[in-house]
Amino acid sequence: MDKKLLTPGPLTTSMSTKEAMLHDWGSRDTKFIDLNASIRDSLVKLIDGEDKYQCVPMQGSGTFAVESMVSSLTQKDSKILILINGAYGQRMKKMCTYLGRDFIEYEVAEHEVHDINKIEELIDSNNLTHVFAVYCETTSGILNPIEDIAKLVEGKNLSLFIDAMSAFGALPLSSKTITFDAVAASSNKCLEGVPGVGFILVKNEVIENAKGNSHSLSLDLYDQWQAMEKNKQWRFTPPTHVLAAFNQAIEEHKEQGGVEGRGKRYKKNCEIICNGMKELGFEQLLPDNLQAPIIITFKHPNDPKFNFEQFYNALSEKDFLIYPGKLTVAETFRIGCIGNLDEQDMMDTIKAVKEVVTELGLTLNLQNNDKRN
Ligand SMILES: Cc1ncc(COP(=O)(O)O)c(C=O)c1O
Repeated sequence: MDKKLLTPGPLTTSMSTKEAMLHDWGSRDTKFIDLNASIRDSLVKLIDGEDKYQCVPMQGSGTFAVESMVSSLTQKDSKILILINGAYGQRMKKMCTYLGRDFIEYEVAEHEVHDINKIEELIDSNNLTHVFAVYCETTSGILNPIEDIAKLVEGKNLSLFIDAMSAFGALPLSSKTITFDAVAASSNKCLEGVPGVGFILVKNEVIENAKGNSHSLSLDLYDQWQAMEKNKQWRFTPPTHVLAAFNQAIEEHKEQGGVEGRGKRYKKNCEIICNGMKELGFEQLLPDNLQAPIIITFKHPNDPKFNFEQFYNALSEKDFLIYPGKLTVAETFRIGCIGNLDEQDMMDTIKAVKEVVTELGLTLNLQNNDKRN
């Protein structure tokens, strides 16, 4: 039995998704070409984007997809506002710096969301073309108010790009409800595929006008799209097995009630982890109204005996893999609640944490948590 991955990805996948990789696929064969087309169609449908959006898959981890979106869909004279409250906003800033794109940033603390009025002020006082936002900032697990941001950006006639890596497939993102020009995500998060491919959903007119923007051949989204449109094939070697697994995972996503079904399961998982950890005396970083049902950050307990590595290893011995913290402001660790895991897995996780707390002789400060409510 594999260990349970309570992480932001790669995640625990279903047996049938893993089994889909037990074949070899000819990358120029009709069967594979059809499978690839089916993935692209399904992903466009997930944002209700039929006729208006194109899906362009990109090899590599999620960062490759975000970088191909940022580099291929902006121009040398673009001016971008980057909303930052964690590592993934910072990463888009780094991409813009590498690319030499003109940008301004609005950064708030990792446990805070941006002030919409302040965003409006920045838009009004700068000659902007784009706004970049992260949906769920996985650094803390915070849920950014993407609908409010999208409405504002649309009202100002700017182009919104969303890094929806850890939200796509579990949190609402419909082009019928909000307006965005491009969104990037990947196979191995809420869609529960295996890692190795990302994708960008981009408005028709945006991709059609993207020729010549990219500094890089391999990340050129326009070129990737053109080639795929021409003969439905990938320009370069496709990650065939990853795509076969992704196709299966997408089928299972449909069978399990799509975005709504997935979101519901994760919400329940999240509740069990938050309540269980709180009962044990751990302090959650975020208040419930800012907590996305994806990954939860907990502060290291005050007990000087607490050592993350020891805590991690003890949980790993019991077949649960948690995740280190990524905050710059506090010592934390994270527990993910996504992947092919359910209520029982979450209850088992809490039981294992409880046993580890006893085994390590940790004293937890129960009073800490009362301040949050
Ligand atoms: C919001 C967000 N953006 C981008 C990434 C980068 O993805 P990858 O680590 O697959 O390159 C992640 C990864 O967790 C993420 O959560």
